Amino acid sequence: MDTEERFQELLQDAIDYVKTGFRTHRPHKAEKGEQEKEHALQEESRGYDPGIDERIRSCRSCRLHEKRKNAVPGTGNTDADIVFIGEGPGEQEDIQGLPFVGKAGQLLTKMLAAIELKREEVYITNVVKCRPPGNRAPLPDEEEACFPYLEQQIRMIGPRIIVCLGAPAIKTILKSNLGITKLRGQIHRFNEVPVIATYHPAAVLRFPELYKRDVWNDLKLLRELYRDMRPSS
Ligand code: URA
Repeated sequence: MDTEERFQELLQDAIDYVKTGFRTHRPHKAEKGEQEKEHALQEESRGYDPGIDERIRSCRSCRLHEKRKNAVPGTGNTDADIVFIGEGPGEQEDIQGLPFVGKAGQLLTKMLAAIELKREEVYITNVVKCRPPGNRAPLPDEEEACFPYLEQQIRMIGPRIIVCLGAPAIKTILKSNLGITKLRGQIHRFNEVPVIATYHPAAVLRFPELYKRDVWNDLKLLRELYRDMRPSS
């Protein structure tokens, strides 16, 4: 079985698991040493001002604050090489105050694992930090009101790669109204930082046959770009 077939199988397992709760594969337990390394990585972070999370949590710049349970600043390594940007918190994220913890989040975790990344080593955030009621798409003025937070987060983290998950992230970062189909598969730039655009995991969950091959190709592009940037060991 080649790598692509293996990935397709893994992704299908992940989709089945997220949809049905049936786990085809047991997740690996991180080695103790690895966990320690991850903690050290997080502590090494110097540039991220945690005050921004507090400002996001108390933000009232747009109507989305009215119905939120929790604002969701982001999670992961604040010194990460790779930042993933989704659309906005859903129900579970609003309850827990953490991004991508619902079904789409479970799939994102597995997509990362497929290219040997852990959630703890990347940073995960959203275009809007408060849940749009009923999970509607964020409105342009809401995206605009939240953009300074996203921009500051990116500046403080200083990633080497940004990955946009879905149309709102692509529109916000690339300032383009072109569809994902046109923008994926290439490397764009945001303030000089390379940007990869792909479909949102929720779209993959809804229409796996339509999107999983393209998402795999985008993940491969990310893996290659990241490998090229790291010194060979
Ligand atoms: N979808 C998103 O775009 N972001 C989340 O945090 C969860 C689901």
